[in-house]
Amino acid sequence: MLLWAPLSTLVWGPSTVFLILILLLGLCVRIWQRSHPWDLQHCSTDLTGKIAVVTGANSGIGKVVSQELARRGARVILACRNRERGQQALAEIQETSSSNHLLLGEVDLSSLASIRSFAQWLLQEEPKIHLLVNNAGVCGIPQKTLTPEGLDVTFATNYVGPFLLTNLLRGALQRAGSARVVNVSSFRQACGYIDEEHLTGAGGPLAWNQNYDCSKLLLTSFTGELARRLQGTGVTVNSVDPGVVYTNIMRNFSWVYRFLFWLVSFFTKDPKHGAIPVLYLGLAQELDGISGKYFSNSCVITLPAKPAQDPRVVQSLWNATVRLTNLDKMD
Ligand SMILES: NC(=O)c1ccc[n+]([C@@H]2O[C@H](COP(=O)([O-])OP(=O)(O)OC[C@H]3O[C@@H](n4cnc5c(N)ncnc54)[C@H](OP(=O)(O)O)[C@@H]3O)[C@@H](O)[C@H]2O)c1
Repeated sequence: MLLWAPLSTLVWGPSTVFLILILLLGLCVRIWQRSHPWDLQHCSTDLTGKIAVVTGANSGIGKVVSQELARRGARVILACRNRERGQQALAEIQETSSSNHLLLGEVDLSSLASIRSFAQWLLQEEPKIHLLVNNAGVCGIPQKTLTPEGLDVTFATNYVGPFLLTNLLRGALQRAGSARVVNVSSFRQACGYIDEEHLTGAGGPLAWNQNYDCSKLLLTSFTGELARRLQGTGVTVNSVDPGVVYTNIMRNFSWVYRFLFWLVSFFTKDPKHGAIPVLYLGLAQELDGISGKYFSNSCVITLPAKPAQDPRVVQSLWNATVRLTNLDKMD
């Protein structure tokens, strides 16, 4: 009895109450992160006979998206940079979706040459494309790391690659009659700014990991400009933030950051939940005709960062990227 009083003070002291509050708060964050106003199970969109292309389909969000599209009857082209990892994912998706309509394509989105040869191969395979999901992305690559073609790896993979691929597939998207492009952006776009020089590893100063933020802002701004140019063609294009999702996206960071990400993973989405906003843009019937928008991870149309709303900035970026990718010299 004499021992009980100090013990109970210890157990029910302010630090215990604080810990319980933190845990409750964490639980609320987890529930909020994993709740969506859109119910995938109630979406009746059938994709039989449709062609879908998903980049970065071998991992994380891209794998779940590919699985769901295949389950709904689409012929899904898994656009992956590594044949072995791609084949492994294909076998897994085949098994879980019971689909025999999967095709593996090899593409390195940081390489203009690789994108051109992939697009050429794809257009021979599939003259019509109904859905293109520009999902592949990298994070945590040191600034000014250049590709053999002289592009910054992060900007090349997250922005220039999707820009070139989408433009090369434009004809196939238009031939489909009605098609959608989904660009997987990030809430981090809000912390970026637009400087065309970044594409080649030059340009204004970047804070830690801000190359990722800027690359996602560029992708978001490209979405708006492409939508404007595609008006009346039957092709819509939107971008979306999947939220904070526990995937392999931190692979390029040191073990300390990867450990911290693992620690907070209880409070983040898993790839299944992270794929929902992306699938919303690809499947939801209420989005027919909606184009050029940026969606939050709760599937709500949101304004992107200011530079992406400025038509002069956005058009100048478009023109600079056309020159960089030699799209203006194509016959
Ligand atoms: N996870 C998050 O919290 C979060 C938040 C906001 C936005 N996002 C965005 O969501 C998208 C999917 O990421 P994730 O979280 O699912 O990460 P992930 O598991 O790392 O998946 C990224 C995919 O992109 C592929 N990829 C990377 N570089 C490529 C290249 N040069 N060419 C072709 N494919 C390449 C990867 O292929 P390999 O396996 O061969 O490397 C992988 O399949 C990314 O665009 C990411 O920026 C993620």
